[in-house]
Amino acid sequence: MFTVYADSFHPDDPLAGLVIGERPDPVVPPGWQLIRVRAASVNHHDVWTLRGVGITADRLPMILGCDAAGEDDNGDPVLVHSVIADPGYDDESMDPGRSLLSEVYQGTFADYVAVPARNVLPLPQGFSFAEAACLPTAWLTAYRMLATRSGLRPGDTVLVQGAGGGVATACVILGRLMGFEVWVTSRDEDKRAKALTIGAHAAYPSGARLPERVDAVMETVGAATWDHSLKALRPGGRVVVSGATSGTNPPADLARVFFKQLEVVGSTMGTRSELSRLVSLLTVSGTRPLIARELPMSAAAEALATVAAGDVFGKIVLTR
Ligand SMILES: NC(=O)c1ccc[n+]([C@@H]2O[C@H](COP(=O)([O-])OP(=O)(O)OC[C@H]3O[C@@H](n4cnc5c(N)ncnc54)[C@H](OP(=O)(O)O)[C@@H]3O)[C@@H](O)[C@H]2O)c1
Repeated sequence: MFTVYADSFHPDDPLAGLVIGERPDPVVPPGWQLIRVRAASVNHHDVWTLRGVGITADRLPMILGCDAAGEDDNGDPVLVHSVIADPGYDDESMDPGRSLLSEVYQGTFADYVAVPARNVLPLPQGFSFAEAACLPTAWLTAYRMLATRSGLRPGDTVLVQGAGGGVATACVILGRLMGFEVWVTSRDEDKRAKALTIGAHAAYPSGARLPERVDAVMETVGAATWDHSLKALRPGGRVVVSGATSGTNPPADLARVFFKQLEVVGSTMGTRSELSRLVSLLTVSGTRPLIARELPMSAAAEALATVAAGDVFGKIVLTR
């Protein structure tokens, strides 16, 4: 079948290990289903995989792609929850042995992907395959950060770092829907202007002094914005961190954490039931994920280069 996969790791030149070519069809274990992929969105995760982060060489070659919308064996339209976890966990994201598609099991940039039957949901009504394919990683992560982990209440102020990213744009749109005052930062003037058009109340250059302190920060940028995230919080405020694109080990600034009694809360992906609640929220509000570009899956190299360069506002979706 047609696939897009990592053949080797290159920390400083991620696209060097990318191959677009044929691989064997998936083997489908008992209790799993074969999904014909129609759309798969690109996540920074795919760039990390090509850099060799979060995966070991013995798993190569690895088909990329965490997200999929497509058709099941009966031809029914479906959406895939991409967290593969022990069914014994109510909160799948808390299973220490969990993985995302493309970490242990082959990913979604392919004609077919095999997934546990319990990870298959009906395609949300009124959603295109491309729109649905944005939900399982970036949008679900943003939903859990805001709805489950932030402690925010309607009327509170939230700062979203790195306005253009897939998770960040989802945080802006969902934060606005949930009744928060949404502020963003971006290094890029054009992205700041775009953030205002998708629901941000205010947009500031990265690291800028804010007019007042915020109740919570949604952090996916990491080292480049961490210091600003801690400084931006009101006493007792909370930073929710789900990613660290620019580096995982900034100074911890412990004095600020204890003196201001801040909370640092991690967040990862989301549960199947959070995915259903996200779909309900988008459905009742008539909201759809922000798609920057739709490209054929054969153009995966172009899409991955764009994401690696941080040159995107919203999601890039690959279609078959
Ligand atoms: N824990 C989880 O379950 C989970 C789920 C999804 C994503 N993640 C992680 O979260 C991160 C974001 O993912 P994504 O798919 O949303 O990525 P993305 O779409 O590639 O987001 C990139 C954004 O990060 C900002 N950025 C990158 N480098 C920066 C730097 N040096 N300084 C300031 N800003 C920088 C940019 O913002 P501006 O250009 O606007 O400044 C850019 O728009 C990734 O590291 C990903 O692995 C984790």
